Amino acid sequence: MSERLEDIAARMVAEGKGILAADESTGTIKKRFDTISLESTEENRRDYREMLFSADEAMKNHISGVILYDETLRQKAKDGTPLARMIADAGAVPGIKVDKGAKPLAGFEGETITEGLDGLRERLNEYYELGARFAKWRGVISIADGLPTWGAVKQNAQALARYAALCQEAGIVPIVEPEVLMDGNPGTHKIERCYDVTEWVLKTVFDELFDARVKLEGMILKPNMIIDGKNVRTASREEVAERTVRCLKATVPAAVPGIAFLSGGQSDEEATAHLSIMNATYDMPWKLTFSYGRALQAAALKAWGGKAENVAAGQRAFTHRARMNGLAASGSWKQDLEQAA
Ligand code: 13P
Repeated sequence: MSERLEDIAARMVAEGKGILAADESTGTIKKRFDTISLESTEENRRDYREMLFSADEAMKNHISGVILYDETLRQKAKDGTPLARMIADAGAVPGIKVDKGAKPLAGFEGETITEGLDGLRERLNEYYELGARFAKWRGVISIADGLPTWGAVKQNAQALARYAALCQEAGIVPIVEPEVLMDGNPGTHKIERCYDVTEWVLKTVFDELFDARVKLEGMILKPNMIIDGKNVRTASREEVAERTVRCLKATVPAAVPGIAFLSGGQSDEEATAHLSIMNATYDMPWKLTFSYGRALQAAALKAWGGKAENVAAGQRAFTHRARMNGLAASGSWKQDLEQAA
């Protein structure tokens, strides 16, 4: 008998754990590798992901699920074990990014629509066979003068809802990710504007999910935090936490089992601190955890530097961040734990 969506979703937001977003597309991982002057070959990409997924302490104790890219879901470790199997053996749920990226939205200058719905039913069935039990689709909303428009908000919400319904049909838990960018162009908006736009986007997304008959008990929301634009950062950590929880309470039904934030360009420590303050300070109807890409990987990528002799150092860096975020997921991270390490 296949696992119930509710049970998979509960595992994804298990106490003190969160999700590793390692689903960088081939284009994005090349940008990350450029920062350590490493060529983006299939083997280097495999070696990098294998380093992360074989960091035993991090994977077993702090990571509930891993989002993979199509190529990675099909790759095998050096010893021949499929990478998805390594993840499952560590007790984490393998997941898959299924969108095909944000493309310019016709008629809407400066805005995008996420593609990938055509043929998605067939792809989801294949991903299920390959071991994926959850999926991710990211819609992107930019804040700028006059943006976002209602047309872009609405169409991205509709795409997210159609994706989520198809996932559930296939026995796969959808991570619904409507990201309001903090580092858009020009990235100078205030936190109040981020609140208003995110509230509008989340209300629209949940309306569309309802119309598409998506079971809220079998999905995870992956939102941005409520934060200033990247180039005008002034709000305190407590203020980010307070506004984020307020916005989520105003928009996310209690039937949703969990919310897992994206890091979106926050520094590693900020992303951890914000999550921890929310969990330590507020009572909430859903689990609140992380689904970080950059904030979990940046230090590990740097410590590894693409060299086999640095695998242990890369794993130590990854394990540290995973441990800090695991603590944040239960509200017990403290600043001095960073210094101690
Ligand atoms: P960041 O945490 O680096 O924003 O990435 C998370 C993610 O999966 C974005 O889609």
